[in-house]
Amino acid sequence: MRISLTVNGERREADLWGGESLLTMLRDTLELPGSKNACEQGECGSCSVLLDGELVCSCLVLAAQAEGHEVVTVEGLADAGALSPVQQAFVDAGAVQCGFCTPGLVVAVTDLLARTSEPGDDEIREALSGNLCRCTGYAKIFDAVRLAAERR
Ligand code: FES
Ligand code: FES
Repeated sequence: MRISLTVNGERREADLWGGESLLTMLRDTLELPGSKNACEQGECGSCSVLLDGELVCSCLVLAAQAEGHEVVTVEGLADAGALSPVQQAFVDAGAVQCGFCTPGLVVAVTDLLARTSEPGDDEIREALSGNLCRCTGYAKIFDAVRLAAERR
């Protein structure tokens, strides 16, 4: 089947089979490898994208369900090649180690700060509860969220 959708502000089309996930389509067909595939079971959040403004695990969404809808991936957050404020805050706070979790976290934090300009620790914890990081111990990630919030 062939579907048409908007990805990072651009109209895109893709040929896919009915059971294909949005994550696979983004990475393999649309050549947007920023969203990572770490579990493919909705457990890690590394594949997080915004679907019509809603944070979703793209490994759990059928690509066909995105027909006619709008998807924003981590690649779409950068502005003309410049890092977004959240991306820059992750760099400046030293919140990136292996980086595998980082794209999903950046999308989740962008979503959080769009809803809450000054999140407290509990709000940050809840917002990021679906994103697993096996490297940082989360302290630097929390620093990055606070830094991004301060700079807004
Ligand atoms: S790859 Fe989607 S939640 Fe882990
Ligand atoms: S930086 Fe390695 S999993 Fe988070």
